[in-house]
Amino acid sequence: MTVTPVSPASSETVNSLEVSRLAYAYPDGTQALFGVDLAIGRGERVALLGPNGAGKTTLVMHLNGILTPGHGSVTVGGVPVRKDTLKDIRQRVGLVFQDPDDQLFMPTVRDDVAFGPANAGLRGAELDRVVTGALARVGMLDFAGRPPHHLSFGQRRRVAVATVLAMEPEILVLDEPSSNLDPAARRELAEILRSLDVTVLMVTHDLPYALELCERSLILSGGVIAADGPTRELLADEELLAEHRLELPFGFAIPSL
Ligand SMILES: Nc1ncnc2c1ncn2[C@@H]1O[C@H](COP(=O)(O)OP(=O)(O)OP(=O)(O)O)[C@@H](O)[C@H]1O
Ligand SMILES: [Mg+2]
Repeated sequence: MTVTPVSPASSETVNSLEVSRLAYAYPDGTQALFGVDLAIGRGERVALLGPNGAGKTTLVMHLNGILTPGHGSVTVGGVPVRKDTLKDIRQRVGLVFQDPDDQLFMPTVRDDVAFGPANAGLRGAELDRVVTGALARVGMLDFAGRPPHHLSFGQRRRVAVATVLAMEPEILVLDEPSSNLDPAARRELAEILRSLDVTVLMVTHDLPYALELCERSLILSGGVIAADGPTRELLADEELLAEHRLELPFGFAIPSL
């Protein structure tokens, strides 16, 4: 009997992200990851917490192939991250860097958002539709003709989010999305993230933001996953937080259900 394999990318049961036994040492010998295992289902929003130096950014840089595992594997929507799948993977993983200036380099906001989809072959009306849609979703359509370096930090962060949304990614990965945002911009970004129908992995030191946006959190500490569970339960566990140098802001109490 012949079994026709279902395309992994189209199957509803495939996880958006699977990381298996991922270990990595930098060229200078610093071992940053010691065997990370995690899986994130389609449509989940998950926070990645952990102290400075825990390996969060190192992990994130494996998700779209900026770094190559020393050991173990990463799979996005069923597609393994490898040299020969990188083009596909870069479309599937929308990585928003902590600093929007690492992401925006074109003369106008429109050009920046069009860059990825144009590279993927979109042209004309179809390209315009995608760019307009992505800018509208982050409330930046009115700024399409402006140079990114004339925008405020919060506005640049929104444009950086639009550049990855325009690629219609399988998973949106954000490194410290709320850092340097004023309270209104922080709340507006939360509303944008909540309105998106996409899997999200969000690295953050902002524990209330994790609680507000992500039902589930992972704690990465010393290069391994130290906890994985409902954000509310993790943040209510004072011993766990102290053990991994995580602290709620002064006066913050976990709201009761
Ligand atoms: N380019 C590099 N070369 C050597 N070691 C590095 C390099 N980048 C990071 N490291 C080391 O790898 C470990 C993990 O760093 P990483 O940047 O992933 O931490 P992080 O969890 O993102 O921390 P933070 O919360 O400060 O952003 C640290 O010990 C760090 O010093
Ligand atoms: Mg980091």
